[in-house]
Amino acid sequence: MCNSTLQNNTFSALFVGQNIVTIKTVNSTNTFLKEALSNSAPLPEGTVIMAGEQTAGRGQLDSKWISQPGKNLTFSVLFNPRFLSLPDQFDLNKAVSLGINDVLATYLGDRARIKWPNDCFAGHKKIGGVLIENMISGSQIKHAIIGIGLNINQITYPQSLKNVTSLSKILHVHYDLMALLGEICSALEARYLQLRAGKKQLIHAEYLTRLYGLHEWRPFKINGRMQDGKIVGIAPDGRLEVEFDDGIRRFGFKEIEFVND
Ligand code: BTN
Repeated sequence: MCNSTLQNNTFSALFVGQNIVTIKTVNSTNTFLKEALSNSAPLPEGTVIMAGEQTAGRGQLDSKWISQPGKNLTFSVLFNPRFLSLPDQFDLNKAVSLGINDVLATYLGDRARIKWPNDCFAGHKKIGGVLIENMISGSQIKHAIIGIGLNINQITYPQSLKNVTSLSKILHVHYDLMALLGEICSALEARYLQLRAGKKQLIHAEYLTRLYGLHEWRPFKINGRMQDGKIVGIAPDGRLEVEFDDGIRRFGFKEIEFVND
């Protein structure tokens, strides 16, 4: 763990971010955390691995997560949600998405949205993303690695990254990354504790109220074909429920694409 520092910090959360490992440069905070756990490193629940720079940041669907060094938040949080059964694993995704949205909404108000399944949106642009990787043992989720990338102070983006924004780009303010990280840790902890306390219905209902495009007719691409549909809900397994002229269908992550975002 050379190139890294262990800190005791003053975050107000009870356990999320109380053990924070800050690394200047790492391949990916998710990979780093996964390898540490595989090597039985004794990491307490709520450990945060925070990177100044990722050389191989990973996104959904094998994409790369690109972020200018030192400008943004790129970190992973360790949860041990053994209370959650495998069929309910999308509930953790909802709780995490809501925690991040809680904080973004304090800056952006109603513009802060969750784009299914867990993109962070500001208006119609992506401001962050989440990559959750579960380590399963038997029928339990032993560890959940919550990788979060949030665009904070970065102003310029490569042309290949269309439709992205940052907090600074929108609000013209330079943000203290550690202060923001502390806010997110507290919000994640609050939502995680709600989930652990069994408040699944509340989490589900709030996730829906923050959902980008809910009840709006819009174009989707399904099997290479464009079709107008309207998001009407989320199935218990996390699939997106979309209404079409001929009825409602459910889609997994790779089965439907938003068009124009
Ligand atoms: C997405 O595709 O929207 C998810 C992006 C997740 C990026 C974060 S940055 C910190 C953590 N480490 C990674 O390699 N990926 C996640």
